[in-house]
Amino acid sequence: MKHYDKFSRELYADDEGYESATPEVVADYRASRLRCGTALDCCCGIGGDTIALAKVCENVIAVDKSAERISMAERNALLCGLKNIKFVNSDIFACDLKRLEADLAFADPQRRRDGKRVNSLDETEPDTARLVSFLGGRFEGFCIEAPSTAEISYDCEREYVSWDSRRGKRECILSLYFGRLRRCGISAVALPTGDRIEVEEHTAERSDADKPRDYLYEPKVCIKRASMERDLAESLDCSFYGPFLTSDSLLKSGFFENRFAFLSFFERDRLIEALRALGAGKVVLRGKMQPEEQMRMKEEIERRLDGERKLHVFVDEGIICESLSIPQNGRSHP
Ligand SMILES: C[S@@+](CC[C@H](N)C(=O)[O-])C[C@H]1O[C@@H](n2cnc3c(N)ncnc32)[C@H](O)[C@@H]1O
Repeated sequence: MKHYDKFSRELYADDEGYESATPEVVADYRASRLRCGTALDCCCGIGGDTIALAKVCENVIAVDKSAERISMAERNALLCGLKNIKFVNSDIFACDLKRLEADLAFADPQRRRDGKRVNSLDETEPDTARLVSFLGGRFEGFCIEAPSTAEISYDCEREYVSWDSRRGKRECILSLYFGRLRRCGISAVALPTGDRIEVEEHTAERSDADKPRDYLYEPKVCIKRASMERDLAESLDCSFYGPFLTSDSLLKSGFFENRFAFLSFFERDRLIEALRALGAGKVVLRGKMQPEEQMRMKEEIERRLDGERKLHVFVDEGIICESLSIPQNGRSHP
């Protein structure tokens, strides 16, 4: 039995089944988009998505080619008190979809091989292209989860969802919505706030800032994976500067991972001087560095500081700033 950071209760799971299960907050959100009479879950695994679908649909048909996973999913559904699921132990391609009375289909193919995440659609199991043509021949609407770094050339909505993992990992899930489930070309959603931004294609015309304004914001991973930094900047009436969004007044959005007050630029060989002038005592180093190098550099710098402030140093951008808290009061994006 496992739950750790993904589920609100313990569920039966093997290690790989748990790793590949959809976190409850994401499964519940996605199920809310897939609400229907009968939903087909093509690769149910230990039942993360099946359970979420069964909470909002009248019925669910859950298929998995692994007998062990089907058995775990079945026991997990019972633990959750759900009796509206029919479990089928089969290869999805052996199922006669025309005979299944389902209104839409969902598939979350395996995206791990030998314990590692795969990055392209042809490495998933089942193969995503095969799923698209199989499900597309039967359903007017269907949804497939894909590796969030994969190149997507299908005519579908690409929805990138971030959630706050209790393990502190910054993760992102990509769902492809086809046919009548497609609402736009590209979207990003931040959970648990539910902030959503969508565009048909990237059209933001606002030009990038030539220097940081008073405040800097690090966008959540869903915005980065969706390449929606400029779309978000436009919708928040601020600018994009390097990896940040930036503005003169302090903004609030569920899409911000971190907010900072911009303090100054620094030249690499004059960092200590700049930090001392700002009254720094502790630093948080950010940049493309190996953890050991980062630790060594931090210790070396802090040994030469005697101030009170804890400041963030973005080494690659040459920027010093101070972290500001993120308000925790729910939906904040218009
Ligand atoms: C990523 S897991 C699904 C996780 C699930 N959505 C959850 O939240 O628990 C993928 C599952 O697809 C199943 N699978 C792979 N190929 C399949 C196929 N051709 N037919 C049916 N199931 C398949 C695997 O056995 C595995 O359990």
